Order: sequence, then C-alpha cells, then structure tokens
Amino acid sequence: MGLGKLSRKPCFLTIKQKMNIILIGFMGSGKSSTGRKLAKLLEYSFVDTDSAIEEDQGCSVAEIFKYGGEECFRKMETRLLQKLKNVENSVIATGGGIVLREQNQRLLQEIGKRVYLNVPQEELQQRLKNDRNRPLLKKKDPETVVQKMMKERVLLYEQAEYIVDAGQRSPQKIASEIINKLCNEDYDNNF
Ligand code: S3P
Repeated sequence: MGLGKLSRKPCFLTIKQKMNIILIGFMGSGKSSTGRKLAKLLEYSFVDTDSAIEEDQGCSVAEIFKYGGEECFRKMETRLLQKLKNVENSVIATGGGIVLREQNQRLLQEIGKRVYLNVPQEELQQRLKNDRNRPLLKKKDPETVVQKMMKERVLLYEQAEYIVDAGQRSPQKIASEIINKLCNEDYDNNF
C-alpha cells in the first residue's frame, strides 16, 4: 500500500500554474477534437485558432482566403498568437499552416509546449480526400497537394517539444498520451 503511494508520480498538470499546450500538425490530424478532449481532461480552457479568427472576423476561413488571400489569413494568425501570449492553462489547437511563419514559430515557443500530432501521410490523404472546406485543398489533385505540403512542413512540425503518434487513434487516447508524456517529463526533470 505504502509502495503504491511512493511510486505515484506527482504531475504539474494537476497543479494550477501558468501552462499552455499547443497542438500543431497537418490539416486533418485531429488537433481540434484532441484539443477539446485534452482541455476537458485537464480542466483547461480551449482555444481553436481557426475558430477564434472566424469569430473575430465574422466570416469563415474559406472566405478569408477567397477575399483576402492566404497572406491576409497568415497575418491574422500572427495577430492572434500575439494576443495568446497572455493566456494560461489553455489548450490551443492551431491551423496546419501556422508554423510557416518564423515569427509564429517563435511566438508558439513562447506561449507553451508544442505537441505535434503525427499522422502518416497516406492516412491524411485518406481523411482529406473528400474535404470541401479547406481552401488549400480545393485543387484538381488534392493528394499531390497534401504530399507536397507535408514535405515542406514536416521539419517545422518536428520542432515541437513532443511528438505523438495520432494515426488510427481516438482523441481520448491521444489526449491521454499527451498528459502522460508531459507528466513524465516533469517528473524526470524534478526528481
Ligand atoms: C491550413 C489549415 C487549416 C486552416 C487553413 C489553412 C493550412 O486548419 O488554418 O485552411 O495551411 O494547413 P486545419 O489544420 O485545422 O485544417
């Protein structure tokens, strides 16, 4: 009985302190669904950068791309990240292209711990093949687009503090693994 108690790892996530978890990864990797689950489990706030931008602008991401272009949307992402520097105890699900700007990479690092949801390319292609909402996939050959974009982005995603396999797994499973990883690291650093 005593041993059980001794071997229990204390976890900083259960103690209220300034801490944010940022989910990064390709479109369709499950950042929003996992983020919502994770926030619920940790009793953290949940922010979805795409939804926050849509709310702020009063129109959809697709409309922003259509009328303002990608660059306009990227600027909005940067402006939002600057505001998010003040949040704490939040899970932040980001848009797949947020890592493209160097400025955003620095901001993300400042805001919290980045977790890359890694999904195999074939699975992403499968998940995204009938997508009608994402402006960057509205191309003749979305499979090739995904392939090309993944190649350009994978090294940026891999700069995350944590990488979690998110293929063929439920948001609940992925969220639990994220909590385990973060807790174990905290334990190893402090004891
Ligand atoms: C984008 C991903 C989208 C959205 C926008 C651009 C990208 O978010 O931000 O369509 O460049 O990968 P999701 O990753 O949530 O689909």
